Amino acid sequence: MATFEYQNNGVFPTSRLRRLRYHSGVRRLTRETILSPDRFIIPLFVRPGEGIRQPIAAMPGQFQLSVDELVKDVKELEKLGVGGVMLFGIPETKDAVGSDAMSDDGIVATAIRALKDVVGKDFLIIADVCFCEYTDHGHCGVLKKCGKADDAWDVDNDATLANLVKQTLVQARAGVDMVAPSGMMDGMIAAIRRGFDENGFERLPIMSYSAKYASAFYGPFREAAESAPQFGDRRSYQMAPDSAPGQAMREIAQDVAEGADIIMVKPALPYLDVIRMAKDQFPGYPLAAYNVSGEYSMTKAAALNGWIDEKRVVLETLTSIQRAGATIIITYWAKDVALWLQ
Ligand code: PBG
Repeated sequence: MATFEYQNNGVFPTSRLRRLRYHSGVRRLTRETILSPDRFIIPLFVRPGEGIRQPIAAMPGQFQLSVDELVKDVKELEKLGVGGVMLFGIPETKDAVGSDAMSDDGIVATAIRALKDVVGKDFLIIADVCFCEYTDHGHCGVLKKCGKADDAWDVDNDATLANLVKQTLVQARAGVDMVAPSGMMDGMIAAIRRGFDENGFERLPIMSYSAKYASAFYGPFREAAESAPQFGDRRSYQMAPDSAPGQAMREIAQDVAEGADIIMVKPALPYLDVIRMAKDQFPGYPLAAYNVSGEYSMTKAAALNGWIDEKRVVLETLTSIQRAGATIIITYWAKDVALWLQ
């Protein structure tokens, strides 16, 4: 139907599409995808200590921060109008189950409390929910032996669910505004929702990393979060890039049925088709996209070499993600963009 209309839209010289492009006022008037920093969320990495601002080599401009430094940065982000932060913790000690994440004195709980003391009520403190940064093996949950071979270990889905409930209740008690489970365990949303509802946190929303692919674009993040798996990979829980996009729709359908409030596709750029499909098939749910570490590092590397214009490439990239259908964008550029758009 749309094709028919376009075909009858007039032909040259009656139709001159450049008429929409000569005057800057007309160009401004006909804009449709408008970036706004208050719908950007910036991921930040927090670690124990004081006065720590440890640069992340593979992500120029990004740091591991101690809580005091984190507080300074977040105050500035709030002033710039960024929507919120998403916290990733790097604990003092890791163990087989990721105990730090389930402790009220753990690094993320400590950071949440410190931030809630200083930010206003409009600024969002979101916590990533996963175990890979907290376990000594670097996998996203508890391991279990699944077969005879020495390396036949895999994440135990249902045992991990119980720990996800503990982790999110720690975050809830610390005062988090929203949780974002990223571990791709089946049933994680139902478990977390029930945990919240049974403990008086029925108002706390869940943003689920619903369709998260097993992506090579997470490489720099694993340096940043010190969360690389010590053996194997994440292909038994994250989605295959070459699987049917319909499988991503099943993941989303399951999450919303379990009570997810906001859904997410991750990474963003290599999955713009999945973002569009999710937007069309789930119009009733706010859709987020995670513009991941590898997407950031590639652009940074080219920019630092003087090969591309960083500001223009980033704005064009974020515009494409929003145009594909994501209204919420999680991006390491949130602060830069807020500055550029001022
Ligand atoms: C934790 C998690 C990862 C990312 C976000 N949450 C890493 C992974 O799954 O290995 C990646 C984010 C990025 O690359 O920017 N499970």
